[in-house]
Amino acid sequence: MKILITGGAGYIGSHCAEIFKEKGYEVIVVDNLSKGHEAAVGNAKFYKGNVGDEEFMYKVLGENKPDAVIHFAAYSLVGESMQKPYEYYKNNVCESMNLFHSLVRHDVKNVVFSSTAATYGQPEDGLITEKTPNAPINTYGETKLAIEKMLKWFNTAYGLNYIALRYFNVAGAHPDGHIGEDHRPETHLIPIVLQCAMGKRERMKIFGGDYPTKDGTCVRDYIHVCDLIDAHELALKHMQKTGECGVYNLGTGGGYSNLEIVETARKVTGAPIPADIIDRRPGDPPTLVASSENAEKILGWKRRYGIEDIISHAWKWHSTHPDGYKD
Ligand code: UFG
Repeated sequence: MKILITGGAGYIGSHCAEIFKEKGYEVIVVDNLSKGHEAAVGNAKFYKGNVGDEEFMYKVLGENKPDAVIHFAAYSLVGESMQKPYEYYKNNVCESMNLFHSLVRHDVKNVVFSSTAATYGQPEDGLITEKTPNAPINTYGETKLAIEKMLKWFNTAYGLNYIALRYFNVAGAHPDGHIGEDHRPETHLIPIVLQCAMGKRERMKIFGGDYPTKDGTCVRDYIHVCDLIDAHELALKHMQKTGECGVYNLGTGGGYSNLEIVETARKVTGAPIPADIIDRRPGDPPTLVASSENAEKILGWKRRYGIEDIISHAWKWHSTHPDGYKD
C-alpha cells in the first residue's frame, strides 16, 4: 500500500516514514524543509514543496497515486503561535485546505490527521476524553481544531474520510537511535533535559513550582513516538475497513511532573542535571492527561513503552547526535 506522508522530514513525520517502511508500506514524503531535515527522510521517495501548492501536489499525487495520506506538515509551537497567528492560520489551515482539495480532486479517500491536546485548552482536572469540551487557549490549538472541523465538512460533502489523532506530549526516538528530535531552537522539556545531561546547557529551568499538582510543577502525559505511529497505522486500517471517521486521543492515562522527568533523566543518563524552578511559562495548563480508552477499544491500540524507555531512546539519539542532523 502507498502512503503519502506530509511533514515527513519533521520529528514525528520522519518516525512515521521510517516505521511504515519497516512495516512494508511504500512511503512518499512531501516536506518544504522549513522546519524538517532532509537527512531525516532517509531513503523514502522525497518531494520538496508546500502541501498547499495545488500545482505541485497535482504532480506528486498524479505520479504516485497514494492509497492514503498522513498529514503532519504544520507549525506546532504553542508560544510562537501566540506571536504569529497569521503565519499559523496560513501555514496550518490554508495549506491543509488546499491539500484536502487536491486529495478530493485526485480521489484519495483516506486521511489521518495529526491533531493535538491543545484543542482542549485548560480542562478541569481528571482524565481528558474526546468528550471533554474543546476550548483552545492558543492559536496553535485553534488552527488544529479548525482543520478537524474542515475535515468533517469535506467528509460530508466530498466523501474524504478522516481520523484526527489528538496527541498529548510526544517524546522519545526510534529505539536504534538513528533518527530523533531536532528542533531549532529546542523548546520541549525532554530534549532540553538531555541537552543538560550532555553538558550542552548548564542548568535546567523549570517553569513554575506553584501549580496545583503533586509537586507544584506541571504534569504531562508522555507518549513514545513509536507507540504514536502504531496508532496511525491502526487508524488507517480502521478507516479503510469501516469507513468510520472520528477523533481519538493518544496518551497513556498517566502523567509525570516536570521534576519527575528531570529525576528520571538523571537516573537514565547518570548525569546530575542541575535544575532551577523559575516563573511559570504563560499558557501552560497545570495538568494534561489523556484517556486513550477509545483508541484502545476501537482501534485496538496498545502502548509498548513507558517513561524510562522514552527517555533512554531519546538519550540514545541525543548522545550520538549532539548537534542533531547535519544539514
Ligand atoms: N518546560 C520546562 N522547562 C523547559 C521546557 C519546558 O519547565 O525548558 C515545561 C513546560 O513549562 C511544561 C512541560 O515542561 O510544563 C512540557 O513542555 P513542552 O514544551 O515540552 O510541551 P507542551 O506541553 O508545552 O506542548 C506539547 C507540544 C504541543 C502540544 C502539547 C499537547 O509541543 O504541540 O504538548 O499537550 F500541543
